[in-house]
Amino acid sequence: MSNTPYRTALVTGASSGIGAAIVRRLSEGGIEVHALARDAKRLEALASDTGCIPHAVSVSDQAGLEALIAGLEVDVLVNNAGQSRTGNITNTTPDDIDALVDVNLRAVLQLTRLVVPGMIERNRGHIVNISSIAGHYAFAGGNTVYHTTKAGVHSLSQQLRCDLFGRQIRVTEVSPARVETEVFGRLIGDMAEAKKRFFDEYDSLLPEDIANSVAFAVLAPQRMNVSFMEVLPTMQVVGGLNFAKKTSAPG
Ligand SMILES: NC(=O)c1ccc[n+]([C@@H]2O[C@H](COP(=O)([O-])OP(=O)(O)OC[C@H]3O[C@@H](n4cnc5c(N)ncnc54)[C@H](OP(=O)(O)O)[C@@H]3O)[C@@H](O)[C@H]2O)c1
Repeated sequence: MSNTPYRTALVTGASSGIGAAIVRRLSEGGIEVHALARDAKRLEALASDTGCIPHAVSVSDQAGLEALIAGLEVDVLVNNAGQSRTGNITNTTPDDIDALVDVNLRAVLQLTRLVVPGMIERNRGHIVNISSIAGHYAFAGGNTVYHTTKAGVHSLSQQLRCDLFGRQIRVTEVSPARVETEVFGRLIGDMAEAKKRFFDEYDSLLPEDIANSVAFAVLAPQRMNVSFMEVLPTMQVVGGLNFAKKTSAPG
């Protein structure tokens, strides 16, 4: 039995991977969890497993988000929904830029804007943003738009603490490195190939590792705000330096 003051949570991107694990973990912590994603079937399955309340809504659906929040007291908002794409700025498409900015950043800002007034009124709340190491480091092979949106989520997390200063509202950013989820399969359009290429030979994090990190912050005593957690697989480091030879420059 937990003594958290939080009664309800809203988790976006809850139909799979990290989001589904967070729903599971917070439900076990005694919080009523509202689970949001587009895939109604998977949400229903998660609901019958965990008792969460499913909402098949896209984070791109502004009216849908507004209608949802109007009827909810959200104590914990977990901004987790996210997408990625292959390529970088030299070969990205206008649609990919729009989709990533929309889901990874615009929706995070909009949802946060919608829940914060209720948190202020109740003087109780916790916003958890799932960013990525891509928001803090540059690395070759990463998608530039994805990196940029996640850097925005990092900046938002920092600025929010200033906006909410003096209130009992906490802001936590969890920044994972590689986690074994469907994100890589969606990225290359082939789950089996993604498993082979990204996971079979590497010791990655599991979704429950991130869910436990989120739960640590959410269930921590109220005096304590876990503001930032970078979570890496033990067998992964971030860093690297490249130097192109003079002869490699075109022209
Ligand atoms: N896996 C990693 O290595 C890793 C590392 C760092 C950060 N992250 C971040 O962790 C978060 C979760 O990703 P994951 O790894 O768990 O991948 P995932 O299994 O692909 O989950 C992504 C979730 O986002 C949801 N989603 C996508 N577009 C949406 C939309 N328009 N509206 C509502 N929900 C939407 C998906 O549900 P529907 O398709 O049902 O809508 C799904 O539940 C993302 O923000 C990702 O950037 C992941």
